Amino acid sequence: MTLKPDDEVSIVACPDGPLLVRGDVPILTPDGEPLPRRRRTVALCRCGKSTIKPYCDGTHKTIGFRTEPELPA
Ligand code: FES
Repeated sequence: MTLKPDDEVSIVACPDGPLLVRGDVPILTPDGEPLPRRRRTVALCRCGKSTIKPYCDGTHKTIGFRTEPELPA
């Protein structure tokens, strides 16, 4: 299967922040129900403190969430 540029999906781990998910990929509940999604790019919380999980609400900034440094490839 060849993806067209508009179909490409990427996930970017932001330093000290969320995972940015770009592309047409469903975000599901543990029961498999699709969550509402209004944008092509969404931020998923990885600090665990967002009030709108699984989405990021910016709380990572106020709690000083820090990620581990990237390992060299
Ligand atoms: S990563 Fe942003 S609120 Fe958790």
